[in-house]
Amino acid sequence: MNTFAETLIAWQRGHGRHGLPWQVRDAYRVWLSEIMLQQTQVDTVIPYYGRFLSRFPDLPSLAAAPVEDVLTLWSGLGYYARARNLHKCAQAVMDRHGGAFPADPALLAELPGIGRSTAAAISAFSHGTRAAILDGNVKRVLTRCFGIDGFPGSKNVENALWTLAESLLPASDVDIYTQAQMDLGATVCTRGRPACGRCPVAGRCVALRDGRVGELPTPRPKKWSANGTGASR
Ligand code: ADE
Repeated sequence: MNTFAETLIAWQRGHGRHGLPWQVRDAYRVWLSEIMLQQTQVDTVIPYYGRFLSRFPDLPSLAAAPVEDVLTLWSGLGYYARARNLHKCAQAVMDRHGGAFPADPALLAELPGIGRSTAAAISAFSHGTRAAILDGNVKRVLTRCFGIDGFPGSKNVENALWTLAESLLPASDVDIYTQAQMDLGATVCTRGRPACGRCPVAGRCVALRDGRVGELPTPRPKKWSANGTGASR
């Protein structure tokens, strides 16, 4: 049997999303798209992405701009902390890295607005680095396919998912594999009505086998806190 990654890579070639404007080997463009896509869907992002690049075609132009200009171009996308961090990040890359994004995901994750998963995605897309992503879509795919119980936002479940995600990485084509996971989560293994009939890994999906697709991922417990005390945050 093919591995999970091989199956997803083959599926991506035929059924994944292609021709998106940020599917380029350019860390600045990839980074901008990943920040815009963090809480916003592809169709919404596309026009913003084009306008943003017209005004800020490269990192130095963004770093040198007044933050108000960045916020104006972001207006309507929401989650404005992203825009402020984007601007800070551009300046940090100028200061710390001489204007070029580092390829190392650990260094990327030290920059404003870039968490571990986004760092891995940027590095995989722009350099082909073998690094695992774990965003909301991937958490949903993995908890279902591998039958993992427990709220994925809790530390122990999240740690287990990171370990699993790293163990599944293919030896090559990590960029295609990364896009495949995102696309499977966004177009097939959706939250509400997953299209299991079109899923390339349905044959190995534990949740589908056990009739638990609707139960996984486990929802956030009613009284939940990141530190386990039960105090609300
Ligand atoms: N969501 C986050 N990153 C994405 C990407 N590169 N393509 C499509 N959707 C995404």
